[in-house]
Amino acid sequence: MGLLKVSSILIIFTTTLLNPLTIMSMQQQEEQVTGFMTTDEDLISKTCNQTSYSDVCMSTLLSNSSTHNATVADLAAVSIIATTSHAINTTAIIAAMINGSGDDLDQCLNDCSVEYGDAVSELQEAVEALQRCDYETVNVKVSAAMTNSDTCEGGFEDEGESSPLTQRNEFFFKLCSNALAIVKLLG
Ligand SMILES: *[C@@H]1O[C@H](CO)[C@@H](O)[C@H](O)[C@H]1NC(C)=O
Ligand SMILES: *[C@@H]1O[C@H](CO)[C@@H](O)[C@H](O)[C@H]1NC(C)=O
Ligand SMILES: *[C@@H]1O[C@H](CO)[C@@H](O)[C@H](O)[C@H]1NC(C)=O
Ligand SMILES: *[C@@H]1O[C@H](CO)[C@@H](O)[C@H](O)[C@H]1NC(C)=O
Ligand SMILES: *[C@@H]1O[C@H](CO)[C@@H](O)[C@H](O)[C@H]1NC(C)=O
Repeated sequence: MGLLKVSSILIIFTTTLLNPLTIMSMQQQEEQVTGFMTTDEDLISKTCNQTSYSDVCMSTLLSNSSTHNATVADLAAVSIIATTSHAINTTAIIAAMINGSGDDLDQCLNDCSVEYGDAVSELQEAVEALQRCDYETVNVKVSAAMTNSDTCEGGFEDEGESSPLTQRNEFFFKLCSNALAIVKLLG
């Protein structure tokens, strides 16, 4: 190894040690590890641990690549958008079940279609409110969407019909509950 190479390694070594900027940036990196910017999975598990349905939370957040390098606010957004997507899918499923017979089941499905349509609008408003850090409105809108789904499920009971949507309504409840819990972490 040439003398030149050894001395340049030394120079790099000593300047790295003594350069105050380098030391500062090392401290910043350390803060990022102990604070918000842990690895993606650490932040996701830490966040999901604050929700009632942490397994649903983990699978929802881990399945979206937007959670890379995310903040808790980003996780809240992904969580509400996933909830919206579930509601949109539910409206399509309901539409396919409606057969226009006008009987009790058909009417319940029509009501559910309206309820889920409202839920989709409210969740879209929740995302907009989140973007302007209006957490109170986010809470109101996501809670309203949750109520829409409850009303849908309750409609079948009222008519003595067995609900074909129980599983989707229950999963939607979990998604909303988790989204509310994550938003609560924001203040
Ligand atoms: C959540 O955190 C608590 C304490 O911080 C811990 O005891 C518990 O095991 C964690 N639960 C999950 C699901 O990670
Ligand atoms: C995450 O951040 C690191 C460092 O800031 C960067 O190198 C990396 O490209 C980012 N990854 C994504 C998926 O944005
Ligand atoms: C992931 O989340 C982002 C919002 O941050 C959303 O725009 C996107 O549609 C989501 N992707 C999937 C596959 O759901
Ligand atoms: C909604 O349906 C699409 C198409 O079937 C699917 O790719 C997506 O994962 C579904 N989203 C949710 C949240 O169920
Ligand atoms: C429509 O749905 C009702 C129950 O909601 C069922 O009794 C009827 O057979 C269905 N008709 C068709 C054409 O699917």
